[in-house]
Amino acid sequence: MRQGIKGILMIKFKLNGRDVAMDVDPEMPLLWAIRDHAGLTGTKFGCGLAQCGACTVHLDGEPVRSCQTFVSDVEGMDVTTIEGVDDTVAQTVQAAWADLDVPQCGYCQSGQIMSATALLREVPKPNDDDIDAAMSGNLCRCATYHRIRAAIHEAARRLEA
Ligand code: FES
Ligand code: FES
Repeated sequence: MRQGIKGILMIKFKLNGRDVAMDVDPEMPLLWAIRDHAGLTGTKFGCGLAQCGACTVHLDGEPVRSCQTFVSDVEGMDVTTIEGVDDTVAQTVQAAWADLDVPQCGYCQSGQIMSATALLREVPKPNDDDIDAAMSGNLCRCATYHRIRAAIHEAARRLEA
C-alpha cells in the first residue's frame, strides 16, 4: 500500500487478472470495492454477515465472502469475480447451470457458481456429501438446491469425459 491522493491508503491487487489500485478506506468490505469502485455488479449483497454466500468471490483461488473481507486484506492478491472466472472448470459449471436451468430469480447464483467452481477444482468427482459441505454456506431463497446439486454432478461428468 502507499499513500493515496486523499491521504488514505492506495490498495493494490489483481481483479480478474488486471492490476487495480484503489484509493479507499482500508476497512471497506471487498464487496463494495468490487461493486462500487470497479463497477462489477455480478457479485451480490445479501446479508452482509457472511451467512448467505451471495457475495462469494475467489481470493487466490479460494472462495471467500467478500462482504466480510476488508479490501486491505487482499493487498497483492488475486481476486476473481463471476465476471472473470473463465477457466475450463468455470466454463463447464456455467454451461451445466444453463443446460439444467438452475437459476430461478438468479440473485444467489453468481455466489453459487463461484463456490461450485472452487469445489470442482478441489474435488473433481464430488459425492452428495461433498457438495452439501461445500455449498452449505450458499443460501437460495428460491430453493434451487436440487438443481444446483444436479448441475455440479453434470459438470463433473463433462469434465471427466
Ligand atoms: S452478503 Fe456476504 S455472505 Fe451474505
Ligand atoms: S435463484 Fe433465487 S435466491 Fe437463488
